[in-house]
Amino acid sequence: MRLDDRDHVSWGPSLQPPGAAPQFRVSVPDIGPAERLNAWRCMQSAMVGPAGFYRDRFEARFAALIGARHVLSTSNGTTALHLALLLNDVRPGDEVIVPSMTYVATANAIRHTGATPVFADVSAETWCLDPGDVAARITPRTRGIVAVHLFGNIAASAALDAVAAAHGLWVIYDAAHASLSTQGSAGSGSLGRLSAYSFHLNKTITCGEGGALALNDDALLERARWLRSHGMDYHQRNLLHEVGYNYRLSNLHCSILCAQLDNIDTIRARRAAIAAAYGEALSGTPGLSFQPLQPGSQTEVWLYSLLCDRGAGAPPRDAVIAGLAAEGVEARAFFPAIHRMAFHGPPPGRSIPDLPVTDRLAQDGFSLPTYNAMTPDDARVIAERLKRVMDRQASGPVNRLMGVS
Ligand SMILES: Cc1ncc(COP(=O)(O)O)c(C=O)c1O
Repeated sequence: MRLDDRDHVSWGPSLQPPGAAPQFRVSVPDIGPAERLNAWRCMQSAMVGPAGFYRDRFEARFAALIGARHVLSTSNGTTALHLALLLNDVRPGDEVIVPSMTYVATANAIRHTGATPVFADVSAETWCLDPGDVAARITPRTRGIVAVHLFGNIAASAALDAVAAAHGLWVIYDAAHASLSTQGSAGSGSLGRLSAYSFHLNKTITCGEGGALALNDDALLERARWLRSHGMDYHQRNLLHEVGYNYRLSNLHCSILCAQLDNIDTIRARRAAIAAAYGEALSGTPGLSFQPLQPGSQTEVWLYSLLCDRGAGAPPRDAVIAGLAAEGVEARAFFPAIHRMAFHGPPPGRSIPDLPVTDRLAQDGFSLPTYNAMTPDDARVIAERLKRVMDRQASGPVNRLMGVS
């Protein structure tokens, strides 16, 4: 019933991009009657601040969902990552290995500690951090690794753990896309000591802006709590431990997240059906290739993502995105490669690393509309439009202009 309540998927005028709205947006937040009711209840109680029933409830339920021992809600995913790094005592002069194929926030959080991100390539087999390339980039300054479960695909955690253990390093997981992903029967939050989640507007579970830190080490819990809240002891307000941050998430935001969790089975099933419909309609299409899944894992269907296979004669990705826009479908290019951003350039004395898989994904990857209110039929319609665009452009003027034979 809730997902048929289409009024909740409309965007406010201020969020409307200029020009005609596409028929299918790439991502649409699912804020329905249950979220409104919880938020209203929260406001009725005036418990809209940084503590309260919904925050406690959300943290306990999210921990159970992802299989973590503890969860602390945070103001967003970037602050959760920052906390995870601080809990590993990352400081200026340290190096932290991170994929370049991720949202820039992953690397920014490392910079926020004063440390230097060292970019490693992702593997063509998973689009997540390549453990072999990580090993090759370890120096005496390396303290740890931040691995990203890109588009929900679980990173090669066993291999990364082995590399880390061999060099006395730690691994933190950026699980912004992986609230619903599992490895075997274990949720993403059971991997490693610390994982960071995002509930930004375009995420599968959202409250507009929000995040969570998952911990599997009891010894880190108290410090994580005080770093999140000005350095203040969780149990004695007058006891201050160190310079902390205000990275708390409000009870009001958590009320919205609780409503999302009440509906999580429907959300999971909806998105799985959308991915299955895309997969059936697009598999075998010349010029398209797909993210291979980590063996034994289940991936969260965040944004259905694929590559224009230039080797197989596909048109350039940007031409495909423009063609889809003309067909009323918003598609999104993958994240730009961070190692090529001037302000994330290499440490002095080192050149820009050679990361061929990352460069290829950044140039050829794109994501298709994926959101709860879509139906599998919508996915089939979008897939047909994509195939039409690919056919038209394979020999069309844009392709010739862009030098593709
Ligand atoms: C992989 C990844 N890491 C971190 C973040 C940062 O999360 P937030 O926007 O909640 O700070 C995002 C996206 O928002 C992301 O996609």
